[in-house]
Amino acid sequence: MDSRVAKAHLDLRNHIEQMDKMSVSLFEAKEENKNLEQLSILLTSLLKKNIERDQILFAIGGGVTGDIVGFAAAIYKRGINYIQVPTTLLSMVDSSIGGKVGVNHPLGKNMIGAFHQPIAVLISLKFLDTLPDRELICGMGEIAKYAILRGDQFFDYFQSHTTQVFERSKPLLMKIIKTSIDTKKRYIERDVYENGVRAHLNLGHTIGHAIETATGYSVFKHGEAVLLGILAEAHIAMRMKLLKASAFEKILKLVRQLMNESNASVKLDDTIHLVLYDKKAKGGRVRFVLPTSIGNVTIRDDITPRNISDAMKFVASENLFVLS
Ligand SMILES: NC(=O)c1ccc[n+]([C@@H]2O[C@H](COP(=O)([O-])OP(=O)(O)OC[C@H]3O[C@@H](n4cnc5c(N)ncnc54)[C@H](O)[C@@H]3O)[C@@H](O)[C@H]2O)c1
Repeated sequence: MDSRVAKAHLDLRNHIEQMDKMSVSLFEAKEENKNLEQLSILLTSLLKKNIERDQILFAIGGGVTGDIVGFAAAIYKRGINYIQVPTTLLSMVDSSIGGKVGVNHPLGKNMIGAFHQPIAVLISLKFLDTLPDRELICGMGEIAKYAILRGDQFFDYFQSHTTQVFERSKPLLMKIIKTSIDTKKRYIERDVYENGVRAHLNLGHTIGHAIETATGYSVFKHGEAVLLGILAEAHIAMRMKLLKASAFEKILKLVRQLMNESNASVKLDDTIHLVLYDKKAKGGRVRFVLPTSIGNVTIRDDITPRNISDAMKFVASENLFVLS
């Protein structure tokens, strides 16, 4: 259980601890802790507690907790069942769904992992009452991705209701979360192991992951990096004449609506280098998911360092970071 969640929802922690055969292990959820060392600590604690193969792990927390606990469940005694209990908006709409689990490696994000489906995902909007606004923005980064994949109707609806997300309007959140999950489900049901269309869900992530890694995971949070990645990748698509300027403007407006200006420094060379190491590379070529309209994307493997550099310079010109 994410230690911050355990503190903010003490009643839940106490309740679990009073249940028969249940115990709580706390984990300090932050991107820097989603690594092999913390995984090893978690596995050791499971072994010390004599957890059997027929027992169930609960991952109670955001995407970091869900990814590392899910991966522990995938490899502990060759695999045990687990249940996702997402507590951030991002994990409710994205990371708890679809069975991708894993940890980061110094050479790249999510480089070590597995596909291991949870036997259930339990979502309670109550967790969002204690979630900081910045984390809501991160969730909206992934929702923006679904909005682009889904089409104008959901895109426009989401764009005009972001204020209500900050107000934590339950009916609105319910609608947006359900639509996001439904969108993700459609891709996963067609392609569980990401051999084809599931890759569309990586929109914004090729450049997003590189920005996140190049800045040491400590400047931009995952969902923020995805928003920056969406903008950069949309810029590449527009420059390649795959995306109309009007659709690009809509994406730019949404990203500007969600992201605050920042003078955080991002190293251009490091980012380009990291893009080349992205695990979505096939046959040595990096595959980019580029929007071709609000509602469609295409996969291209002919993106040059110059394309990436131009896009990064554009994002910097919007004052979302400073290039060095
Ligand atoms: N597996 C997948 O398919 C998938 C998809 C998208 C993202 N991810 C991964 O998810 C991670 C990002 O997830 P995240 O944004 O949830 O980050 P996170 O798990 O780090 O949570 C963000 C912060 O919110 C705190 N928190 C969590 N729930 C809270 C609550 N209810 N109240 C108060 N504070 C709370 C956490 O302690 C943490 O400080 C990244 O590592 C990313 O790679 C995975």
